[in-house]
Amino acid sequence: MFFLYLCAKTMKLTFFGHACFAVEINGKHILFDPFITPNELAKEINVNNIKADYVLLSHGHEDHIADALTIAKNNDAKIVSNYEIVSWYGSKYEYTNAHPINQGGSWKFSFGNVKYTNAIHSSMLPDGSYGGNPGGFLVNSDQGNFYYAGDTALTFDMKLIPMWSNLDFAVLPIGDNFTMGIADAVIAAEFIECDKIVGVHYDTFGYIKIDKEKAIETFKAKGKELILPEIGQTIEL
Ligand code: NI
Ligand code: MN
Repeated sequence: MFFLYLCAKTMKLTFFGHACFAVEINGKHILFDPFITPNELAKEINVNNIKADYVLLSHGHEDHIADALTIAKNNDAKIVSNYEIVSWYGSKYEYTNAHPINQGGSWKFSFGNVKYTNAIHSSMLPDGSYGGNPGGFLVNSDQGNFYYAGDTALTFDMKLIPMWSNLDFAVLPIGDNFTMGIADAVIAAEFIECDKIVGVHYDTFGYIKIDKEKAIETFKAKGKELILPEIGQTIEL
């Protein structure tokens, strides 16, 4: 029993507001979509205290990349995103510690395998540059597997996810208007065959305010758990 306990798989997730979170796997910090300094709700978070070995960017919108360069530079972290976004960091900021990937491709990093998945959305960069196609990330590691959908509509492509991975949890947008709302996120959870969902991309702006209690109840009615961590909170999954 003690041996089993020592071998227990653990992934720690810290929520930094909006769609920004970090997952710690085997001591590596993988940060997703940092949007902290412009986020009023996240003003308690100091970006200079955020650890990152990797910064994964789902798409080029400001509300997903605002603090990416600062945090990547602070930590000498590798930026992982689509080819266009990675190229933009190279040409505009001369930040070349980066890994380009494109939809359907996967790569083995030190913490596990990452597949860049389809998302239905848009991806213009803050200066108007083309940001490639938006995506999500599927991470398979020896400590567990998870899927971050990125900003996306509900899509049948999500039915592919369980063919590639047995998920321990998934991070889905639930704020509606710019992405899926709660009803579609419940269907997405069914498509990806995952009962433990961390909700993101809600409440930050007027267009995406939600009723959190109702959202949790809606998932519960379908036998699924919706986790809405506080900003700055770390949970084990
Ligand atoms: Ni977006
Ligand atoms: Mn967004």
